[in-house]
Amino acid sequence: MIGLGSIGKGTLPLIERHFKFDKNRFTVIDPDDTDAKLVKDRGYKFKKVALTPDNYRDVLTPLLSEGEGQGFVVNLSVDTSSLDMMKLCRELGVLYIDTVVEPWPGFYFDETASAGDRTNYALRETVRREKKKNPGGTTAVSCCGANPGMVSWLVKQALVDIATDTGVKFKEPTSRKAWAKLMKKVGVKGIHIAERDTQRAKEPKPANEFWNTWSVEGFLSEGFQPAELGWGTHEKWKPANARKHKKGCKAAIYLEQPGANTRVRTWCPTPGAQYGFLVTHNEAISIADYFSLDDGKKTTYRPTCHYAYHPANVAVLSLHELFGSAGKIQDKLQVLDESELQDGTDELGVLLYGHKKNAYWYGSQLSIEETRELAPYQNATGLQVTSAVIAGMVWALENPQAGIVETDEMDYKRCLEIQMPYLGPVKGYYTDWTPLENRPGYFPEDIDTTDPWQFRNILVR
Ligand SMILES: NC(=O)c1ccc[n+]([C@@H]2O[C@H](COP(=O)([O-])OP(=O)(O)OC[C@H]3O[C@@H](n4cnc5c(N)ncnc54)[C@H](O)[C@@H]3O)[C@@H](O)[C@H]2O)c1
Repeated sequence: MIGLGSIGKGTLPLIERHFKFDKNRFTVIDPDDTDAKLVKDRGYKFKKVALTPDNYRDVLTPLLSEGEGQGFVVNLSVDTSSLDMMKLCRELGVLYIDTVVEPWPGFYFDETASAGDRTNYALRETVRREKKKNPGGTTAVSCCGANPGMVSWLVKQALVDIATDTGVKFKEPTSRKAWAKLMKKVGVKGIHIAERDTQRAKEPKPANEFWNTWSVEGFLSEGFQPAELGWGTHEKWKPANARKHKKGCKAAIYLEQPGANTRVRTWCPTPGAQYGFLVTHNEAISIADYFSLDDGKKTTYRPTCHYAYHPANVAVLSLHELFGSAGKIQDKLQVLDESELQDGTDELGVLLYGHKKNAYWYGSQLSIEETRELAPYQNATGLQVTSAVIAGMVWALENPQAGIVETDEMDYKRCLEIQMPYLGPVKGYYTDWTPLENRPGYFPEDIDTTDPWQFRNILVR
């Protein structure tokens, strides 16, 4: 296991719970040994080292090739290249899983790079190119956390629910194309990964500290990337600073502004209408790409897809402080663990909109209280991620020769079956809310009243 941060610590006890493995050969790698005791007390090895482009092969190869049996790399670190890790694993016939396409350090904060070069689109394309160049082979699961990850499985279940509830005649799809056809038939215009984290810190956030319920470093990296979204075929308007890509799948566009400072209107069951941040995420691109249809020349159908994230209140406050000082990062970065949280729920789901029943949110409403009963060393946000990692690992062991896969390409029923016990209530809600509700208010607005589900109405300007 690479990385013993908030997600690594939560995943470790779940790996023990779900898998049989040779205890003597389980090693955790992290340059920070703050929590090494957790690993050593259980009888595993801890290696205090930062993986780099120069040393990763030398550090990992002996650990993965000595002795019998097939190895498994669970990559839960920041600042290591997912692509290089997965290539090495596949060379060695070792299974691999991660939760994000992570680059080596330098990518996210490269001031000389263009905005397009700093996108998740660009990162995802590196993995897609590798998959195309070397199809099949040992399984490497790319981006299998909560989001990206679990949400791709939720999208399929939500689509099946809507199709059933609106009386669409269909057979459960068995191919990518059939899934896309079903989404088109159901009339889905777009998808928000709609999240509301109401977990409340016991203490108020002091000035000049960034508090969050998962990696602050991870959140800052993606938050400073351009806002990105899968770009649907129903869209009639684009912001002036929207840019297309010239190469690759072309399923997404990006805006020349940081995602964590870009607000969108969305909906979650508990708050109802709310603002979310359009932070770039791999799933915004992979889901839009997966559900695309074309006629050989041009795209005939694609849903818009993006993240709409309302993080914990302390994180919203932290972002406000940060962007208020032109992006100066606070002196102290703090991930709130389960002991520092008073109460609250991470409500994480998918909102499929534009169909006959307007909009449908389907997802997990996991509270911190329930999380404490289910698994140690993590909060609700963490458990939604770590349980997806476990589900992805089970799937990889059951499908060891599937090549490089994204979660959209995995068996959503099998994966959700494994993950379900860790997600708290998992429910679907229809809503008649649209981004045009109560608009315009006191002032004139640039809105499209002919179609509430245009991005023009969703983006806060
Ligand atoms: N898909 C999802 O739903 C999801 C959700 C949360 C986090 N994540 C991703 O999971 C990863 C871990 O998140 P986290 O909250 O545990 O982050 P974290 O910051 O708490 O932990 C990351 C760990 O990586 C270690 N690390 C840093 N440089 C390293 C190197 N060169 N070699 C090995 N280890 C190194 C750090 O010391 C740290 O312990 C991040 O990439 C994050 O973006 C994905």
